[in-house]
Amino acid sequence: MPSPPCVAITGASGSLGQALLRQWHRRGARLIALSCGPRQLELRDAAGQPIALRDVTWCVGQEPDLRELLQEVDVLVLNHGVNVYGERSAAATERSLEVNALSSWRLLEQFAAVVSERRAREGEQSARPRAEVWLNTSEAEIQPALSPLYEISKRLLGQLVSLRALDLAHDPAGPRLRIRRLVLGPFRSSLNPVGVMGADFVAGQILAQARLGLNLIIVTPNPLTYLLMPLATLGRWAYFGLLTRGAGAAAKP
Ligand SMILES: NC(=O)c1ccc[n+]([C@@H]2O[C@H](COP(=O)([O-])OP(=O)(O)OC[C@H]3O[C@@H](n4cnc5c(N)ncnc54)[C@H](OP(=O)(O)O)[C@@H]3O)[C@@H](O)[C@H]2O)c1
Repeated sequence: MPSPPCVAITGASGSLGQALLRQWHRRGARLIALSCGPRQLELRDAAGQPIALRDVTWCVGQEPDLRELLQEVDVLVLNHGVNVYGERSAAATERSLEVNALSSWRLLEQFAAVVSERRAREGEQSARPRAEVWLNTSEAEIQPALSPLYEISKRLLGQLVSLRALDLAHDPAGPRLRIRRLVLGPFRSSLNPVGVMGADFVAGQILAQARLGLNLIIVTPNPLTYLLMPLATLGRWAYFGLLTRGAGAAAKP
């Protein structure tokens, strides 16, 4: 019988982070809560029982420190994020880009490298499930979110994921990561106190769609997102695929 998957979630102490941890717990996963705050995360299930999880402190910029830990991870959920609303200072710009885009991109690359090493070590017959990365980009990837720096940083992350997925997910010689993109509409949290959905509802929908095998997971009341997001990802796949080449292709004569 396969062992339960090991799931690590960033932004674990936030609203969606906690809701995702509870959902994964219901499915029997081993949990790692990656949190920037020093506090101990205490979660309880519906019956009021404490949820067993490993609390790991990590902050943006400390991605290399997670390399060892990632060795045991099957599903990495990159969920941390920040909204600087109407700010546009250099500091706010740097913070938005670092937290919302660049740290997730660095963790994606690092996890892909770890998975490649693991595959080389354990071989194709490994009992482990295919490794997955879930990236929470938000519908701000393609829609206004009344917060320009939030939109810019989430769009950057979305585009980087589309570009790098050509090698990391689709190249047979690559790590063959399964990359799932979470495109979420407004839900209530400290990042968005006026969101119309609840984080528990959103987390339940995310896991239900993942179970259906979807890689593009959309949870929003906005019907336009269901139309525009698949078109945007398809367009990028074709555009990036035509105009760029992977590292393996560059090495060929
Ligand atoms: N709320 C919405 O309407 C909405 C809509 C679409 C997408 N999203 C996305 O959903 C994700 C979760 O957001 P949420 O709404 O649940 O907000 P939240 O409750 O504020 O959670 C975000 C978490 O990100 C982590 N974080 C923030 N700055 C960080 C830093 N410098 N380094 C590392 N971690 C940092 C913090 O968790 P730790 O202290 O545990 O690290 C924080 O609690 C975000 O990526 C957000 O952009 C939200």
